[in-house]
Amino acid sequence: MTIRLGKFISFEGVDGAGKSTHLNWFAEALRQRGIEIVMTREPGGTPVGEQLRELVLHQSMQIDTEALLMFAARLEHVEQVIKPALARGAWVISDRFSDASFAYQGGGRGMNIARLEQLERWVCGDFQPDLTLLFDIPVEIAQQRLADARTPDRFEREQAAFFERVRAAYQQRATRYAQRFAVIDAAQTMEQVRARLQGIVDKL
Ligand code: TYD
Repeated sequence: MTIRLGKFISFEGVDGAGKSTHLNWFAEALRQRGIEIVMTREPGGTPVGEQLRELVLHQSMQIDTEALLMFAARLEHVEQVIKPALARGAWVISDRFSDASFAYQGGGRGMNIARLEQLERWVCGDFQPDLTLLFDIPVEIAQQRLADARTPDRFEREQAAFFERVRAAYQQRATRYAQRFAVIDAAQTMEQVRARLQGIVDKL
């Protein structure tokens, strides 16, 4: 059995939803309450995971290979970083986790969901986040934000239709696992989103 004293929180959303900015604010709000926070990300979070990240974000490959590499990085991440941190009482905030595989490889790329569920069972067992914040936003707005931001990676170069499928798959996950999801309207102003996050921090 996994010893779990801290809480595990994942941040999700389509590229351009603003989750990374909100993640930093959220982590700081928890730190101010004296909680030890480990911030991490997927794909990545370990030396092996970061090398896999470089590969999947920049090399073209078979869809199944992409999914396998995401879950290989995740296995390292769960065993080397997330579980040890939770066991010593730290809280872990991860910029993406398994829901991203269901949204991007499942929704976006159209990969068979049963396959992804097999991988999830293999790698995670029944290990899931305690809380998942989904930053939901219309795809047009997310794409405008991205256009101003940076050089796009392999995923960020996808068409709007791809992101519509990613968004829909995230929404389906949020409905199916409603007990651990909080859906945040990320098209709101920064102040409005922060007020919502503050409410979530207060409840935690
Ligand atoms: P992202 O959080 O967008 O990183 P950054 O903000 O630095 O660009 O994550 C990188 C990309 O990886 C993102 O486009 C979604 C993709 N991804 C998957 O396709 N499947 C997964 O399982 C994960 C974790 C991420």
